[in-house]
Amino acid sequence: MFKLSASLLALALVAFPANAQSPIYGQCGGQGWTGATTCASGSVCTFSNPYYSQCLPGSATTTSASSTRPTTTTTGGGSPTTTSAAPAPTDAGNPFVGYTTFLIPEYVSEVQAAVANISDATTAASAAKVAEIPVFFWMDVAAKVPTLGTYLAAANAAGGKQLVQAVIYDLPDRDCAAESSAGEFTIANGGAADYMAYIDAIAAQVQQYPNVRVVFVVEPDGLANLVTNLSVEKCANAQTTYIQLVSYAISKLQFPNVFLYLDAGHSGWLGWPANITPAAQLFAQVLKGAGSGATVRGLATDVSNYNLLRGTEDPAQSPNPNYDEELYINALAPLLTQNGFPAHFIVDPVLVLLTSVPPKVTGATSRVPVSALVHPPTLATLIDSIVWVKPPGESDGTSNSSAARYDTHCGQSDAAQPAPEAGTWFQSYFVTLVQNANPPL
Ligand SMILES: *[C@@H]1O[C@H](CO)[C@@H](O)[C@H](O)[C@H]1NC(C)=O
Ligand SMILES: *[C@@H]1O[C@H](CO)[C@@H](O)[C@H](O)[C@H]1NC(C)=O
Ligand SMILES: *[C@@H]1O[C@H](CO)[C@@H](O)[C@H](O)[C@H]1NC(C)=O
Repeated sequence: MFKLSASLLALALVAFPANAQSPIYGQCGGQGWTGATTCASGSVCTFSNPYYSQCLPGSATTTSASSTRPTTTTTGGGSPTTTSAAPAPTDAGNPFVGYTTFLIPEYVSEVQAAVANISDATTAASAAKVAEIPVFFWMDVAAKVPTLGTYLAAANAAGGKQLVQAVIYDLPDRDCAAESSAGEFTIANGGAADYMAYIDAIAAQVQQYPNVRVVFVVEPDGLANLVTNLSVEKCANAQTTYIQLVSYAISKLQFPNVFLYLDAGHSGWLGWPANITPAAQLFAQVLKGAGSGATVRGLATDVSNYNLLRGTEDPAQSPNPNYDEELYINALAPLLTQNGFPAHFIVDPVLVLLTSVPPKVTGATSRVPVSALVHPPTLATLIDSIVWVKPPGESDGTSNSSAARYDTHCGQSDAAQPAPEAGTWFQSYFVTLVQNANPPL
């Protein structure tokens, strides 16, 4: 899948000159920031904290639209529950502050190829802008680790303060509750040792470039499946292995230039009252397992999912009081703190931001437009960055019911079809995302 050429790489690096406008979700201010202070059209530079201002969608007036968030929510049973206060601001350790995020050449080339295939000029022009927004590089097979090295070298050569984003995603018996993202390693065939070698190879790469910051999302869905899906035999069998291996990954990636965010599912999954406390305890257990002194930066939520950062109560989720990512994060933070786990987050609402036609999962018809999205003060202290972990346009799973990795979600009537295998380019879906972007790209 990698056809990385030098010219492409060069293109990716010049696509983002320091004096350009910052893209939507790019940094636009803060202490020590020397990059662009104006934002791409459709977004406005919004103060988050003294270290960080970010280009958020909308115009200057939208941020006041719903700036009060109730501190009391009503559960389905009608009894009010008060959410705990957020921990004190600790933004000094936010890895995104003052750094330029590297554009993944693989994704830039995918988008460019897709643009070349779009005949409508307006859609093509909008689609081209997607290439300017940083996404994460998914190391979904061990063979991609050397490519991480290539990107780190390119970021290093570019100079300045560069940050590379990647996903660690190769657990043995991966995606244990579904099939669509099953991986290359199995526990039965020595996959635990293979995984340790994969982590060691990643560690060797990041160590070579101490000046380049690296943000890793660690194992999407992996630990979340252990919170809710132990009734699935494959998950029950994988439980001990997942825990040991994520602890191993944390312990081996303790470098000053590396920032780890363990995947924490999303509000509609682990936000439920029955799941949120066990989830916080599991994250803390895994961190403890990495040994004393080992640390992570925090958690990543909503990766490859469709929840809003701030939504309206979703009937499909009732009576879950934490029905959007903001409520989930605010409810999870004190539980993490109690368990000695750092309460910092990155959130990936990209699939919602880009579309009002939801793809794949049910219950999405009540989504509100992203112009309602705000970045309230409590969140500024908890969220390090809004990110695009899932590269928009790459498939989440095949809709071909005869395929080995078929997951019934991908065949449901509200799923985009026909969908190719997970991770491969899905042109018609990409075009739909671009056409429905809100605000327009
Ligand atoms: C572009 O169109 C050509 C011809 O229809 C097709 O072979 C190719 O796969 C398309 N590329 C993408 C990215 O959809
Ligand atoms: C995994 O857990 C989720 C959340 O509880 C549930 O919706 C889903 O059906 C479970 N998957 C399987 C295969 O049991
Ligand atoms: C669906 O998958 C089966 C099994 O891999 C394959 O033979 C068939 O060609 C696929 N169908 C389509 C439409 O891709």
